[in-house]
Amino acid sequence: MKFGKKPVSVMLAAVLTASSLYAAPVQFVQTAEAAEGKTVHPSLQAFDQKVIARINEDRMLEDVRYLTETIGPRVTGTEAEQQAADFIRERLESYGYTVETQEFSIPDKMIGDLHTSNQQEILITIPSGSGSTPEEGITAELFDAGLGRTSDFTEDAAGKIALISRGDFTFAEKVTNAIAAGAAGVLIYNNVDLPAPMNPSIGGPYDIPVGSITKAGGEALLQDALAKNKTVTLNVKRFENAKSQNIIATKQPNKGEDTDIVHISAHFDSVPFAPGASDNASGTAVALELARVLKSYPTDKELRFAFVGAEEIGLVGSEYYVSQLSENEIERSIANFNMDMVGTSWEKATAIYMNTLDGQPNLVSETALATAERIGTVSELVLYQRGSSDHVSFHDAGIPAVNFIRREPGTASLEPYYHTPLDTIEHISAERLKEAGDLVGASVYSLIRK
Ligand code: BES
Ligand code: ZN
Repeated sequence: MKFGKKPVSVMLAAVLTASSLYAAPVQFVQTAEAAEGKTVHPSLQAFDQKVIARINEDRMLEDVRYLTETIGPRVTGTEAEQQAADFIRERLESYGYTVETQEFSIPDKMIGDLHTSNQQEILITIPSGSGSTPEEGITAELFDAGLGRTSDFTEDAAGKIALISRGDFTFAEKVTNAIAAGAAGVLIYNNVDLPAPMNPSIGGPYDIPVGSITKAGGEALLQDALAKNKTVTLNVKRFENAKSQNIIATKQPNKGEDTDIVHISAHFDSVPFAPGASDNASGTAVALELARVLKSYPTDKELRFAFVGAEEIGLVGSEYYVSQLSENEIERSIANFNMDMVGTSWEKATAIYMNTLDGQPNLVSETALATAERIGTVSELVLYQRGSSDHVSFHDAGIPAVNFIRREPGTASLEPYYHTPLDTIEHISAERLKEAGDLVGASVYSLIRK
């Protein structure tokens, strides 16, 4: 297969989906599927079958459920992210791996909460650049500053919390105008109705607290607190010395020393307010299942599973992981299979994109294409130029890397639930988890098997 500079889309024959039902050994024998008139892919090999016959979609779906419903949003540096790390660690140990926890510091961040005088809580996000409040927070009346133009402020704004709508000009200008008018704090509400507050870039750092709230939150405050001259209490503090961690499991080769290394990676943290089912309990669950399945097979190359934290604040976990590899380990590293958002059930996401940072094919994308042809992957595979996930950290170290991610072919759109509270298990497809597991699992096994 040859690739030009542009993304190449390779349509693969639409064949059998229920690969878990294959009878072994394969090769056009009279299987149950063939008897039912379904097509069995001709070139599925016994070594592929060893992997895909064992990858279990129910187990993966249960792991997505645990990560998203029992734990919930797994924001970098929080207790919930740590719980996810513990869950992954225990699971890998139960499969017989010796597991390393790699702890690292993450930058300070601001956290906050907002309450009305009758103790109603309003969802809030504190952008970096915000000032903090005293321990007890600030309690003040609101000032309706419209869009936050200079002309929207009067003397009355002094000492109050300015309530400003998103729109027309930058967040930084809105905050600067509020400070010039003597406001004690700023709340910016969205002009688009979304379920969670957005994360605006406000510049700064500023001396006064700044929060971001939803459109609904802003409208509720306009009607209630502001109309009735009531106060709100805004509490913002710096969250310092926070830590995140990577969980690493290694499968040593059965023979040979200093062999090539293949890395499988998936991030387990999420953005605030998002259960992160697709992003990225999906990749985490598939990687855990591959750890289970591949553990028992003799292999000639070293396999490493890197479950990384702190992806959503800028690929911090994977950068740390790669930074801890010795020069010799980097040289031996031949591939990174990064799974991020591999399980959405969104009907338009019919393609598996293989994102590489430079848009060029590499050992990982070529191996996956060859595997897809052998095993009869139903979804179209699309090679595409894109960063934005942990494959970037591996690529930057010179390791051939691909991010496997489901998207709409042609537009490259992600599901509409991305980074929202709607990124839940309801929008996850067990079949698609299985398809990703089969593709990546059989690809990795084709590289590391004896
Ligand atoms: N799961 C996404 C992956 C992704 C890839 C999203 C391509 C959109 C496009 C990932 O977790 C994510 O949200 N990445 C951030 C960037 C990252 C460096 C913080 C993004 O794309 O906004
Ligand atoms: Zn992600």
